[in-house]
Parts: sequence; C-alpha cells; structure tokens
Amino acid sequence: MQQIADRAQVSIGTVSHVVNGTARVRSNLRYRVREAIRTLGFQPSALAQGLRLNRTRILGMIIPDITNPFFPGVVRGAEDLAFRNSYRIVLCNTDNDPSKENLYIAELKSLRAAGLLIIPAAGSDLASELMTGRSPSPPVVCIDRCPTGWTGDAVVVANEEGAYQATMHLIRSGHRHLAVITGPGLLVNAAERLKGFKRALRDSSLPLASEFIQEAAFDTRSGFQAARRLLRMLPRPTAIFACNDLMALGVLHAVHELGLRCPEDVSLVGFDNLEFCEYTSPALTSVYQPGYQVGAAAAGLLVERIKGLKDAPRRIILETELKKRSSVVSIEPINRMRSARSPSARKKRPASPVLK
Ligand code: RIB
Repeated sequence: MQQIADRAQVSIGTVSHVVNGTARVRSNLRYRVREAIRTLGFQPSALAQGLRLNRTRILGMIIPDITNPFFPGVVRGAEDLAFRNSYRIVLCNTDNDPSKENLYIAELKSLRAAGLLIIPAAGSDLASELMTGRSPSPPVVCIDRCPTGWTGDAVVVANEEGAYQATMHLIRSGHRHLAVITGPGLLVNAAERLKGFKRALRDSSLPLASEFIQEAAFDTRSGFQAARRLLRMLPRPTAIFACNDLMALGVLHAVHELGLRCPEDVSLVGFDNLEFCEYTSPALTSVYQPGYQVGAAAAGLLVERIKGLKDAPRRIILETELKKRSSVVSIEPINRMRSARSPSARKKRPASPVLK
C-alpha cells in the first residue's frame, strides 16, 4: 500500500479507499492509484479485507446432491446473479446428510460468508443451526424445500399444483389405477407432491390403495426398486407418477427389465423436466420446474438482504408446467366402455386397456 501511495503520490488512506471502495475519490487520483496498482502488480488480499470488514463477498451455497442434474441448474441461476453483483459462490454438497449441512453452515459462518443459499437435506434442522455459535448468522435464503417451521426467506415452486396437474393428465387419459412413487417423507416438497396426487384422485372420486404409494429417495436406484414392487402387484397400476425424473428413469428401467412396455402397459409422468426427458424411450412426460429461475431469484433476494433490505421475510413461489411427451397413453376406461357397449360387443372387448 505504501509503495502504491508513493508511486501514485497520494496518501495511504486514498489508496485504501480506492482498493476497498470505502469512500469517493476524485477521478484523477483514482486513475493514478489504479495505474500504480497495475504497474506494481498489486493483488489485494481478500482474506485480509474479509478480516478487516468482518465479511467477504462470498455467498455459501449448500446443496444436497451434486449428482442430481436438477441442482446444477439452480446453482447456475444463483451463480449468474451473484457474479453480476460481484459476489462469488462457494459450493458445498451435503449428500443429504444434516450433520454435514450443519458443519458447512458453521464453516461458512466462520469464513464470514456474506450470505447463504441453502437447499436443505432431508431432516435438516436449519433454523436452530443458524442460531448456534457466537457469530451472528449472515442472511439466508432457503431454496426448493424448507424444513418445517422455517420462517425466513424462501424460493420454492408450486409443488402441489404441479403434481395435481400431472395426475389429472393421467386421469383425463382414462387411467383409474394410479400409483405414486414419492420422495423422502421428511422433505416438504415430496409431501406437497404427494398431496397434489391425492387431491387429484379425490377430486375424481378414485380410490387409492395404500400399497400404490411407494416411498423412495429421489434417486434412480430407489425409483427402480419401488417400480419393481409396484409392477409385480396384481392388479398392476396402469399409470405411475414418479415425484422426480431420476426416479422416473428408474421406473423405465424396471418396466424394461420386467418385459413390459411404457406406455402400452404402464404410463409414466416424472417431475423436474430434466434434459434427458426428451431422449429417453419413450420421451418422458414431466412437470417442468424452473430450476435456473429459482436459483437466480434466491440469489437476487439474498443480495438485497445483504444490502440491507429490511422488510418481512419473503416466500417466492414459482409456477410449474406439465410438458407432455409420449410416456402417457390414453386408455378407454373399462367402466365407460362397458356401459357404452351392447352385451355382444362386450364379449369381443380385449381384457387389457385399449390404445386409442
Ligand atoms: O430431483 C430432486 C428433487 O429434489 C427435485 O424435484 C427438487 O425439487 C429437489 O428437492
């Protein structure tokens, strides 16, 4: 700093104001300081700045599963927004483990991160973890699935409505034996999707056998195992709503392994609308959720909080949209067909659902 000040012929204080942006400096002085910095190859230490100001320009982002292709889209949105505002993202993966999540929160606090973006693990106790320790918590925005009791800022999607629309699509296609593969029961978004599924069945006066609700872990393997259980049942469901696309991928694998066909033997809808939905065979109908926009909205809100926005906690809910592809087939409901046909015609009717 002294060398820069000497070369630019200004005081050390002026150098400090230019480097840290702590006060307005006349443009000719600013120019001389920047020139001196460039010639001397000075690189300010972010660590030293962080220590002095007791905060950095780092945003900690904690996600549950880096291998799930839904989450990188959310991170991209957050990173774009953060970068534009001169913040840098430090990414942490918890493997859906609440204790790892707690460790990351503590470390990011001690690193003086300016704010935290958190997609909680199943069973997370986010609120109380943020209160522990001596250092105060930086602003936090919870994304995608907020633990019960979370009262802070949040950005989520309309999970229940998305699941409702997915299920209604199956019902309108004539399906009467519907099964669901849910995500982990502890996750609020999994519970909301199940609620939407059940509501659609209730609104259509359709029964739901308890064995037609299978819980899995939002990953391909557990989706595959749940589908194997469902597809071996008699009667078999004619349609499955998998509450995310990775589990739907597992269902497709189980269908092929058991010598069945999708959609002829079982129709399928996923949730997330990941890129691979267009490339599976058949292409997968799925509920689109705007991952990129979720990340960007969360980072935007966090930056506002860091800058001092004081109003009440906000909950931003983004819409979903059903993307119809070829994994759902229309079948003629057996009851409707029976009443519409004469007794002689009824004899000729095939036992399995009819493809339109
Ligand atoms: O695919 C992972 C799921 O968990 C997504 O649907 C997302 O909402 C997340 O919570």
